[in-house]
Amino acid sequence: MLILSPSILAADFTKLGEQIKETVEAGAEYIHLDVMDGMFVPQISFGMPVIETIRSCTDKVFDVHLMIQDPGRYIETFAKTGADIITVHAEACTHLDRVIQQIKAAGVKAGVALNPATPLSALDYVLDELDMVLIMTVNPGFGGQKLIPYCLKKVSDLRAMMKERGLDIDIQVDGGIKASNAKEVIEAGANVLVGGSAVFSGDVAANTKAFMDVFAEF
Ligand code: DX5
Ligand code: ZN
Repeated sequence: MLILSPSILAADFTKLGEQIKETVEAGAEYIHLDVMDGMFVPQISFGMPVIETIRSCTDKVFDVHLMIQDPGRYIETFAKTGADIITVHAEACTHLDRVIQQIKAAGVKAGVALNPATPLSALDYVLDELDMVLIMTVNPGFGGQKLIPYCLKKVSDLRAMMKERGLDIDIQVDGGIKASNAKEVIEAGANVLVGGSAVFSGDVAANTKAFMDVFAEF
């Protein structure tokens, strides 16, 4: 199934609840929540209180992308905020396997994200344990960047690696994704598309629908 996961990082925070409802009504199935700590990535975004507050706006899947150093410190806390999926960066975990087990023990789906320069081999031994792999298509930390073209090859290599192993795990792409390049990333093998500025700049409902129109072609 093809899923749009709008990243609220690009939303108008003065009308966050309203904009979440707008994108959900137009077809978004997930809500992507970018947590940044000012260490793993330069920016500081938002944390638990914001996620807890907007949990009441929708019952759609809360897809929490932790761009924080040593995320193992906060897994239980984020699970309690109402996260349905928690994705951690392989680069931010000294003990990645332990963190994956922590996420699963908290009753949440487990995702691992890879920065553009991180090879797929980082997932060799843990792939079977995951519900989702997030292939970053930009260097994390900011919205509104341009997709790095070589990341598409990484997506197709990952899809091939999964096929070889008989796995059908979600592949999420995040960074610079727009309705105009959605077809390309889906064809490469991604099935969960994060859209920040492409969803929240301008008409949220129309922008969401533009993604749905691309999904309908598959
Ligand atoms: C980047 C974040 C993204 C970001 C995407 O570090 O992880 O989720 O919000 O924004 P766009 O779609 O504008 O690149
Ligand atoms: Zn993200």
